[in-house]
Amino acid sequence: MTNVPVIAIDGPSGVGKGTVSAKIARALNWHFLDSGVLYRAFVWLKGQNASALQSLQEVESIANELSIEFVWDFKTESYQVNRKSKEISSLLRSEAVSQGASQLASNPWVRQALISNQRAFRKPPGLVADGRDMGTVIFPDAFCKFYLTATPAVRAMRRHKQLKEMGLNVNLTELEKSIEERDFRDMHRSVAPLKRAENAILVDTTHQSVQEVYEGMMHSITGKNL
Ligand code: C5P
Repeated sequence: MTNVPVIAIDGPSGVGKGTVSAKIARALNWHFLDSGVLYRAFVWLKGQNASALQSLQEVESIANELSIEFVWDFKTESYQVNRKSKEISSLLRSEAVSQGASQLASNPWVRQALISNQRAFRKPPGLVADGRDMGTVIFPDAFCKFYLTATPAVRAMRRHKQLKEMGLNVNLTELEKSIEERDFRDMHRSVAPLKRAENAILVDTTHQSVQEVYEGMMHSITGKNL
């Protein structure tokens, strides 16, 4: 562990944690980690055979090739995902990659191999990390932890809107089913299941705008006296 401060933001799909985490990272001028991107990039690199992994060594060598960077894009006001200086953000957002990543994420070798990739993002002056196990497993010593929730219907609608904006047309009912499946898998896997860390602040985003969620979280962060 290091002295570099971490803000850990966890929760299921579609709660808005990606958007609000990026906003907090920018406001503080800290580093940013969207850990789901690592699982998605793994699937994208390895193709549909991600579940046919043979050994921890094989998984580690793929993890070493990931080389993911988050670069702020002033035009879209969001982080773009770069791999070896090439933008790959839109290649990672399809439903096939989402489902593949969720299946891959229950593989203990994959979770083990990705620990050091994730911890490598912890650099001065600080890190804002979002995912499913940031506060419980990857950065248990985070000085500030949040667990975001929202009703399943609202989460599906938000994700639908996000995909539409990216030019991906997905049926809302199917999307709801897919999100439910992913959440169930994330919460019931044997390694690092999605759960609220004991000391995480619970934030229900169902009836709040991004700005309201952001302001509430910043209030808690600044109250912690960095
Ligand atoms: O957050 P995102 O939807 O991009 O994550 C894709 C999948 O990766 C999730 O459904 C989850 O199964 C997995 N994941 C995880 N642990 C993390 C981040 C993502 O298991 N810290």
